[in-house]
Amino acid sequence: MTGTAPLDFDRLFARSAPAGRTLGTARRGTYDFAVAYPDPTSIPLDELIDGLREALAEEGEDLALYAHAQGYAPLREFVANKLARDRGIYVTADDIILGDGSGQPIHMIAEVLLDPGDTVVVEDFVYSGTLSTFRRFQADLRGVACDNEGMLPDALEAVVRQAINDGKPPKLIYTVPTFQNPQGWTMSLERRKALVMLAQKYGVPILEDDCYVDLRYDGNDVPSIYSLDGTGHVLYVASFSKIIAPGMRLGYMTAPRPMLERALAVKSGGAVNTFAAFAVHRYATGQLHSHIEEIVDIQREKRDAMLEAMEEHFGEQATWSQPQGGLYLWVKLPPGADVVAARDKILATDDVGYLPGTNFAADGVSGRNIMRLCFGYCTPEQIREGIAALARGLRREGVLAEAGG
Ligand SMILES: Cc1ncc(COP(=O)(O)O)c(C=O)c1O
Repeated sequence: MTGTAPLDFDRLFARSAPAGRTLGTARRGTYDFAVAYPDPTSIPLDELIDGLREALAEEGEDLALYAHAQGYAPLREFVANKLARDRGIYVTADDIILGDGSGQPIHMIAEVLLDPGDTVVVEDFVYSGTLSTFRRFQADLRGVACDNEGMLPDALEAVVRQAINDGKPPKLIYTVPTFQNPQGWTMSLERRKALVMLAQKYGVPILEDDCYVDLRYDGNDVPSIYSLDGTGHVLYVASFSKIIAPGMRLGYMTAPRPMLERALAVKSGGAVNTFAAFAVHRYATGQLHSHIEEIVDIQREKRDAMLEAMEEHFGEQATWSQPQGGLYLWVKLPPGADVVAARDKILATDDVGYLPGTNFAADGVSGRNIMRLCFGYCTPEQIREGIAALARGLRREGVLAEAGG
């Protein structure tokens, strides 16, 4: 055959393939409150290099191997010990799968549980990455109203019962119980117990996403949901992204064996990058604990700087969360205010990035008057300048009334 047949990819894409994403680097503001980056200056670069050098001297030739898909065993051992010590989760290294961040384990869990149209129960506003993953598998997302202690138990039960009545019992309840992204609250012990009881009563697994648990600035730890269960109803994911760096792309999951085996079967790309796992393992074994203490002090100061700046520049015109940890403030402007429309303009003119509440809405549309502001990346000084610039920009764009007006 001669000639070239015309190639129209649009005819070839799978029906389930999502729409394309913009290529190239997205513009970030100098005052970047949009994305949950950790503090850039405290990443332990020298220590990670030392750890890597040590591991390469001892085991470097193993880079010639395709490692087992669960990932570098000594790092899984470290994770198992950390979970036992910090979260009351008693599992072995064989019960851990290391992932490309915690996003990959979440994706694996969604892939093995969800057929199109399956119900997933989520907090009314919750981490957008997981919502996109669930949408990717065409889940029917049902949001549950929350207060400052997490999902309202009656509302949760009503949502579960409604799904059952619709003939679509939930496949999963997803929660970020500690320093919730984006709302900032931490689920109380009582609510955690109620959630576990409900999951057991209706036979629905819980996916506990504990990505921020180490970043506590005030108050006392609350036991993990996993540790309150004991009947195999809880799947657990967490990450090194917020306590070392997202660039390491290392997170992990644990779950009951049948779930783990299925999840491993859909894990793409084989084991996590052994080079990164070497560095994190050697570094974390001796020094992660003190590093967490250091970054907690740094982030507490940034949180306080943002809270003070909000008080100064937004005063009565907004309300915002008072998080005991994590990386965000959740800022509610008066009903009718629209931060979605103003976002690009404020980024271009005021150099301030934020994410609108709609990005986190289970229904995809609520939250036009809400912003999530991340304080993790900028310095306290930049935070003060950036919040002043944000308030100015919102007033100029008519989103907020002129101060005193
Ligand atoms: C609640 C939550 N879960 C999971 C993730 C995924 O992070 P990573 O894949 O870097 O571990 C994030 C990232 O911001 C998050 O906020």
